[in-house]
Amino acid sequence: MGTALITGASRGIGLAFARRLAADGWRVHGCCRMPEKARALKDVEGDVECHRLDVTNGLHLRALGRELADEPLDLLINNAGIFGPRGGFGRIAYEDWLQVFDVNTLGPMRVAEAFVRHLERAESPKLINLSSRLGSIAENDSSGWHLYRSSKAALNMVTKCMAIDLAPRGVVVAALHPGWVRTDMGGRSAPVVPDDSVDAMLATIDRLGTDDSGGFYASDGEPIPW
Ligand SMILES: NC(=O)c1ccc[n+]([C@@H]2O[C@H](COP(=O)([O-])OP(=O)(O)OC[C@H]3O[C@@H](n4cnc5c(N)ncnc54)[C@H](OP(=O)(O)O)[C@@H]3O)[C@@H](O)[C@H]2O)c1
Repeated sequence: MGTALITGASRGIGLAFARRLAADGWRVHGCCRMPEKARALKDVEGDVECHRLDVTNGLHLRALGRELADEPLDLLINNAGIFGPRGGFGRIAYEDWLQVFDVNTLGPMRVAEAFVRHLERAESPKLINLSSRLGSIAENDSSGWHLYRSSKAALNMVTKCMAIDLAPRGVVVAALHPGWVRTDMGGRSAPVVPDDSVDAMLATIDRLGTDDSGGFYASDGEPIPW
């Protein structure tokens, strides 16, 4: 057990991570945009602290970095994400595209830069970026969802860069696809419930070693082609 920081912990997969890790005895820093509305996160039992963090907001990141000061982080989960409009050729909302990139691609990079010093204080730190199979170029045979797909494909590249950048500092970095999960984003038809997705991902995270750093994996640890 150790200390974990999770972004977007107010609902969905992030909240399920907070619940599972806290139940397993981890100290959890659950981050959300509006703590005043994050009732479910505040109700999680265990060693859980709720912090304000919009991943597009540098002031929030600096404030939280200072607040956590010298605390080592064993696990950082870049979970916060948005889907954006479906888009499609001839129907691209360019302002929305920038917003999707800001949250899904630049957000995890900002968070990693803000907390790398906390990670390197831990013994075997891991940094996990929640990606998506929709970001796999190799598996794209239907197009659509250009905004989301491209933001996650770019996040995969950022993950690989981070793994190389942070190897000398002892941080293992990976991109994980949680499955198609029943959340506000995944919708009601999704076959996987958040708890099952999180259990599978935590088992995979536990197995990740330095040789796996920089990879893109399904929740069960199977590599996904870029
Ligand atoms: N569900 C799926 O089937 C699926 C599949 C593949 C990948 N994923 C990925 O898994 C991650 C979690 O997805 P989910 O299904 O749990 O989504 P969700 O139910 O829509 O929850 C998204 C979370 O991200 C937070 N968030 C959004 N914008 C943010 C920002 N600017 N700063 C900080 N937090 C922000 C939301 O906070 P608020 O409550 O404040 O809005 C919420 O806590 C995402 O990265 C998503 O792309 C999900």
